[in-house]
Amino acid sequence: MILVTGGAGYVGGASVESLLVAGHEVTVLDDLTTGHEGAVPSEATFVQGSYGDGSVVAAVLTERRIEAILHCAARSLVGESVRDPGRYYRDNVAGGVAMLEAARTAGTTRIVFSSTAAVYGVPDAAPVTEDAPPRPINPYGETKRTFEGALDWYGRAYGLRAVSLRYFNVAGSTPRIGEVHDPETHLIPNVLAAAEGRTPLTLFGDDYPTPDGTPIRDYIHVADLADAHLLALEATAPDDPRSEPNAERGLLVCNLGSGGGNSVLEVLEAAERVVGRPIPRTVGPRRLGDPPVLVASIERAAAVLGWQPRRSTLDEMIGSAWGWRQAHPNDYAG
Ligand code: UFG
Repeated sequence: MILVTGGAGYVGGASVESLLVAGHEVTVLDDLTTGHEGAVPSEATFVQGSYGDGSVVAAVLTERRIEAILHCAARSLVGESVRDPGRYYRDNVAGGVAMLEAARTAGTTRIVFSSTAAVYGVPDAAPVTEDAPPRPINPYGETKRTFEGALDWYGRAYGLRAVSLRYFNVAGSTPRIGEVHDPETHLIPNVLAAAEGRTPLTLFGDDYPTPDGTPIRDYIHVADLADAHLLALEATAPDDPRSEPNAERGLLVCNLGSGGGNSVLEVLEAAERVVGRPIPRTVGPRRLGDPPVLVASIERAAAVLGWQPRRSTLDEMIGSAWGWRQAHPNDYAG
């Protein structure tokens, strides 16, 4: 039985789907502050609660004989993290450590963690490798990096077998799971909402030092991410040398991106191809804290996990996201 925290959310939900297809039994732990109960398939057991509540986690781990934890739940809005860092330290750090303590007590030693490219801040190089120094520029990235540190030291001291996956820009939909955040801050859902005439689209700056002046990001299909979760879980198996707690190497960290970048304008053009009409937009000022270029080196995930992105073209990601929105006009409500 695998425990997926945040399994009613976007990334967690897509991973639940893949785990079930691969034949795993799954328990979802989600407090539904940002998740959607409708995203949890009936084949999974749903527990409403917080990973930061040690007694809830301890009960789930022991009663359901959990072999491994996929820790996808977190606060994940960059802007909110700057305005309210306390919430990020409480949930992402203190909550995460409460979960680790419960796991220690229950004897659960395997964990895969949803980390982020935000740990790099504004990297010096593109593509950025996992060895680049973490220099987060907001509390979101800082709290994710801090929890990676906890995983590292728990590994060395207590034998925790962990893999941290640093996601770049997650996009696209599976047939069941689409991206629904409130508020929505991400580019592709905002572009598609503009295509539907729901909300106007603002491009945050077109004067960046990039070929077309708009920022470049590395978009990765949520289903490719789910594949990586399965492979990372396998890497935490007892006796697997890849997650062997090792004083020299420390925590196994892998970037997950497509290995290539696209500008905001390229995303917009791809979306116009998908929806078949022009999408109105205006250009506004830069958004604070947006690096010009953020592209992943994905060699480590390929070499160590045997992972390759298979669906991460703009047309496939935006096409699947558009298809999901057409099929779910009221999001998870119908
Ligand atoms: N953008 C717009 N208009 C919008 C939304 C976004 O122009 O309405 C631009 C942004 O300025 C940025 C690009 O589109 O250049 C992508 O923005 P997103 O908000 O979709 O994604 P980010 O790159 O800002 O965020 C991603 C992850 C975060 C992570 C961050 C690290 O979603 O979790 O990378 O920098 F923290």
